[in-house]
Amino acid sequence: MISQETIDAIFNAARIEEVVEEFVPLKKRGINMIGLCPFHDEKTPSFTVSPTRNIYKCFGCGKGGNPVNFIMEHEGSSYPEALRHLAAKYQIEIKESGLPADYQEEKNERDSLFLLNEFALDFYVKQLHETDLGKSIGLSYFKDRGLLLKTIEKFRLGFAPSGPGGLTQAAVAKGYNIEFLRKLGLTTEKDRDFFYNRVMFPIHNANGKVVAFAGRQLTTQKRSPKYINSKESDIYQKSKVLYAMNFAKQAIRKEGSCILVEGYTDVLALHQAGIEHVVAASGTALTADQIRLIKRYTNTVRLLYDGDPAGVKAALRGIDLILQQDLNVEIVMLPEGEDPDSYLRSQGTNTFKQYVEENAKDFILFKTDLVLEETGKDPIKKTELIKDIVRSLAHITDPIKRSVYLRQCSGQLDVDEDLLVSETNQAINKINRDQRIDQMRQARSEARNRPLVMDGLTPDEAKSSSKSKPGVDYQERDIARILILHGHKLIVKEPEPVQVASYILAQIQEVIPSFSDALSAKIALLYGQRLANGEETDTSYFIYHTDPDISKLASDFCASPYEYSENWKTMWDIHLQTQPMPEENEVQDSIQALWRFMLKRYQKLSKENMEKIEELREGTNEDELIKHLEVQRMIVTKRNEIAQKLNTVIL
Ligand code: UTP
Ligand code: MN
Repeated sequence: MISQETIDAIFNAARIEEVVEEFVPLKKRGINMIGLCPFHDEKTPSFTVSPTRNIYKCFGCGKGGNPVNFIMEHEGSSYPEALRHLAAKYQIEIKESGLPADYQEEKNERDSLFLLNEFALDFYVKQLHETDLGKSIGLSYFKDRGLLLKTIEKFRLGFAPSGPGGLTQAAVAKGYNIEFLRKLGLTTEKDRDFFYNRVMFPIHNANGKVVAFAGRQLTTQKRSPKYINSKESDIYQKSKVLYAMNFAKQAIRKEGSCILVEGYTDVLALHQAGIEHVVAASGTALTADQIRLIKRYTNTVRLLYDGDPAGVKAALRGIDLILQQDLNVEIVMLPEGEDPDSYLRSQGTNTFKQYVEENAKDFILFKTDLVLEETGKDPIKKTELIKDIVRSLAHITDPIKRSVYLRQCSGQLDVDEDLLVSETNQAINKINRDQRIDQMRQARSEARNRPLVMDGLTPDEAKSSSKSKPGVDYQERDIARILILHGHKLIVKEPEPVQVASYILAQIQEVIPSFSDALSAKIALLYGQRLANGEETDTSYFIYHTDPDISKLASDFCASPYEYSENWKTMWDIHLQTQPMPEENEVQDSIQALWRFMLKRYQKLSKENMEKIEELREGTNEDELIKHLEVQRMIVTKRNEIAQKLNTVIL
């Protein structure tokens, strides 16, 4: 790895005109230089080099960037290769920060652990289907619980026998390293089988590799737990895995939502009934990593809780962090005493599905109702409840969504909305403070490790990630554009000077983590950090940034400030002719970019809520429908307010 110090030295030394002239003859034209573009065929030069900005840009094919980008593009080299090229040219000594020496070994060990788990899985499956004990105790247990052979085979359920001839013996006889068996928790320190006389559930990661096992006891034995799990290992971190995600992920994408249940057997029963967008957390509260895993496939999660009010309340405390990730969360509580497995078996698939549809409740509203029921009129308890709800509200990252909730909860709780708003703002400030400290720590350690990340980029990846792909959210990109081009300028001078960047970031700070465009989010976060640290940031900071994605995007914006503005016209039907061109009026450009961004958020919110309303119209839950209609009214009001602002300024 090339050290950060070396990278900085290279960026400081490299002059774009010198780098380009190695390959392309250039002529002076005003303050710039021009030549024939090396990246596409042309007869008249449109390839421009700006020595003052230290960037190149072709107005024919659109390619552009800093000196490192040029070498990467021209030579088809990777980021480190391009750095080496320039280091040689400018006679800069390369200092390396070395790879950990045991890297290869570590990789092999992980592979060995996966292979060993595969062997164990095979062993347990054979025990279930091919031994007398397995068939008479294990297989019959599964069948008694209503599982069909095809489900048992699909989920590769198994049986761990007791006594001699168990897994440890079989594996060692095959030549497997007992040390690895211990590492996986399959063998105890006393070299006995960890799982015995249990039915076995293999736990796969999302890619379908076996990372762990759960074993269930066959009879109710008071002294040992109903389920035991493999211990954590290099290949198994409990908090990052969701049971059955490997089988569920396609269905989750297709259905547009994910159902989370409590038990392994609930997952099996639902999948068997054809309801396949279902996963379980292994007997733990949902973690942030598990939420991120869900977010790869969908933005909506339904938590299906067993009918046990006390249990649900405990579970709900832990899930504020779901809100932070901007997931739509709904809660379904089953009738008292039922779990999904039992309810499905007694009621059948159709009734089950109908029940879920009709009883899915928005998380915050559900939580408010539930706790309200319990506290009744007791004022002390009510204060506690408000604190609790405020904590949840503060975790909602989208300010627009939050304001809608605030109004609803103030109604539900019969508390003054202003009071709730100010309490929530205090809670948010606290969260932000904690996060900023965290981010700073992280930024510091990232700065130290930066070359490590860069080296992973192939030139193709580096290239494609900086292009404005059709899928890129351009309201978000537009925020990045404003920050890069105008962030350092003043939006007002009196009474206190305020920078465009701090104005914009203050408005959108909380929604940045939920940006769909990672590059724009990265730029916004970076800017925020630098503001917080009191560091000055301007356009050239981004052009010379060592992250090639950032520097390319910045060069693109510099070369064509209207690139994203053009889209506005078609998308928003705005008459650009009557509007001062953005460059002439940067402040207005910035504010409008912000409004467009907000408008987009409201439209997304409105669409989601309308879908919900359509759904509710089919059902019988009148109260819920009325609530959502109310929400819709508020969203539309807000949205119109902004749309109107845009019109008055533009037309
Ligand atoms: P349940 O007791 O509801 O399990 O615990 P279940 O899946 O419905 O089990 P059956 O139907 O009696 O077989 C829910 C989840 O909590 C974890 C397991 O992941 C289980 O699926 N759990 C439960 C444990 O890890 N250990 C235990 O002793 C009990
Ligand atoms: Mn159960």
